Amino acid sequence: MNVDVFSWFDDVQAAMEADGSLLKPWAKILPQQLHNLFNEKVHGDQQRWLDALENLPAIDNITTDLTQDRIELSSDSISEETDATVKAGLMQLSPWRKGPFQFFDTHIDTEWRSDWKWQRISPHLASLEGRTILDVGCGSGYHMWRMLGAGAHRVVGVDPSRLFLAQFQAFKQYAQSGQNKQSGQEQNLNIDLLPLRMEDVPRPLKAFDTTFSMGVLYHRKSPLDHMAELKDTLKPGGQLVLETLVIEGELGEVLMPEDRYAQMRNVWFLPSCDTLLLWARRVGFKNPRIVEKNITSLDEQRSTDWMQYQSLTDFLDPEDKSKTAEGYPAPYRATLIAEA
Ligand SMILES: C[S@@+](CC[C@H](N)C(=O)[O-])C[C@H]1O[C@@H](n2cnc3c(N)ncnc32)[C@H](O)[C@@H]1O
Repeated sequence: MNVDVFSWFDDVQAAMEADGSLLKPWAKILPQQLHNLFNEKVHGDQQRWLDALENLPAIDNITTDLTQDRIELSSDSISEETDATVKAGLMQLSPWRKGPFQFFDTHIDTEWRSDWKWQRISPHLASLEGRTILDVGCGSGYHMWRMLGAGAHRVVGVDPSRLFLAQFQAFKQYAQSGQNKQSGQEQNLNIDLLPLRMEDVPRPLKAFDTTFSMGVLYHRKSPLDHMAELKDTLKPGGQLVLETLVIEGELGEVLMPEDRYAQMRNVWFLPSCDTLLLWARRVGFKNPRIVEKNITSLDEQRSTDWMQYQSLTDFLDPEDKSKTAEGYPAPYRATLIAEA
């Protein structure tokens, strides 16, 4: 293996250090954070994933299209044999949870139709054109690519999953030599996934125009602290986009599962929408509002060839799909938008 993982972060390090950058405090600690991860806490599968990335075949004349639900890499000069090698390499990076992606002839039908979430949320956002964006808990980066496709200047994602980082790099590796389908210009690649936790982001940065936290709040033992951390990432007037599991209920109501929720071990608090709005007000956000609510359907989260483990249908009560296997209300999600 010769992949130099540290080189993946050279561009973002340089951008953070540049004159006038509001990300300078992060630039100071990022090299040490990456060193700790890749040299001290080596993941058991890291080598296998790096090998899969290195063995992806080189391809010419690549075009990227980040504006479609299935974000896409295409090329007019790829043989069937090369396509098969790409597919086999990407399979090595399974399970693929967030997508969908199109790598040339290979459609990665991920566990989640993450494009559906984007369709629900994106109409409510302040324009992303020219913005610097943080996506906390960004998964494989699917939504980050959509943000770039919507005109963002720079997108930084944080997510501790090393597998998701490898999946993100697989797409970026090809996009690097790609031309943007709409503009005909080189693809803007101001997009980086840092394999860190929200807690690792230095505070207060006040550097981002928009910060997304989608599917993370309920994983945090202290949701109010998470919201305060998110506020500290934003410039004054910057926009928070917070998507999370909620319950039907009154102001003040919160569900704390006894143990698992829909088989997940690390779920702590599911507030009612009014409670979530109160949390946002108490943390100091301005004008918090719920812009959409949605019951997760069995078509939106399901097992596929690219994620062959159990999925939502297995996590619900077989007799009553309105309840989780543990008897709690089935997953119901809402998005809150507010300004710092
Ligand atoms: C349910 S997924 C949501 C992925 C994506 N944001 C979406 O909405 O489809 C939650 C993600 O949060 C990440 N995560 C969990 N704890 C985190 C933390 N403390 N900081 C950052 N990311 C975290 C997980 O690795 C996982 O990829």
